[in-house]
Amino acid sequence: MRTPLIAGNWKMHKTIAQSERFISGLLPLLYAADGVEVGICVPYTDLQAMVDSTRGSRVEVYAQNMHEAPEGAYTGEISASMLNEIDVHGVVLGHSERREYFNETDAVLAEKLLAARKAGLAAILCVGETEQQRADEQTEAVLTHQLDRGLALIDAEALAALVIAYEPIWAIGTGAVATAEQAQDACAFIRSRVAAIDAAASESVRILYGGSVKADNATELLALPDVDGALVGGASLEPESFAAIVGAVAT
Ligand code: 13P
Repeated sequence: MRTPLIAGNWKMHKTIAQSERFISGLLPLLYAADGVEVGICVPYTDLQAMVDSTRGSRVEVYAQNMHEAPEGAYTGEISASMLNEIDVHGVVLGHSERREYFNETDAVLAEKLLAARKAGLAAILCVGETEQQRADEQTEAVLTHQLDRGLALIDAEALAALVIAYEPIWAIGTGAVATAEQAQDACAFIRSRVAAIDAAASESVRILYGGSVKADNATELLALPDVDGALVGGASLEPESFAAIVGAVAT
């Protein structure tokens, strides 16, 4: 049995004061939510405050990126051990916005996954195709490329513990959510690629859907057999809308 994960990706939103207001609104709403893991992926400057404010709660705090090197002359970057030192739970790697605007490659992501693993950080690896790639029937080829290269350096144990987020780029921030069939097909395909590397890991790896997830479409998406949760952007910015998505999967 895979425990579902609902993770909110705030992207470049919320100052520390705003994050504190959010978390004091969210925690009471999650009081009765069972059988679900909840994560918030927050800007670097919010990490310490959110780690402190969520201690003892079910909410886990993730960074949105990190550098692959343990330390060095990389101005403006943050290492895995820096995240680990302040008790951050995990890190999002390879979000399509980072791939597009910051030139992240699959080869670098493979190194980042390994660095996260060595530091004991949980990792959420994002994959997904553009609208054009889907129109050209390249979705499976793109996912295969991203997974084969991105997963090249981690061992089976790390693979089993990994979270992979399927985020079709055409569905991010557009309101154009994938159909249940598109989401299921892509997530099942991702699981089959993991199975090709390690069959046992494919049973435990969690695969999230992301892209315009809202309270009113979450129930259908989260009921799909190969969808083990959601990575939520816009709807994770308000406690009520985020808690409603958690509620769609909580027991
Ligand atoms: P939206 O939920 O705003 O479409 O964003 C999805 C996303 O990019 C989460 O990482």
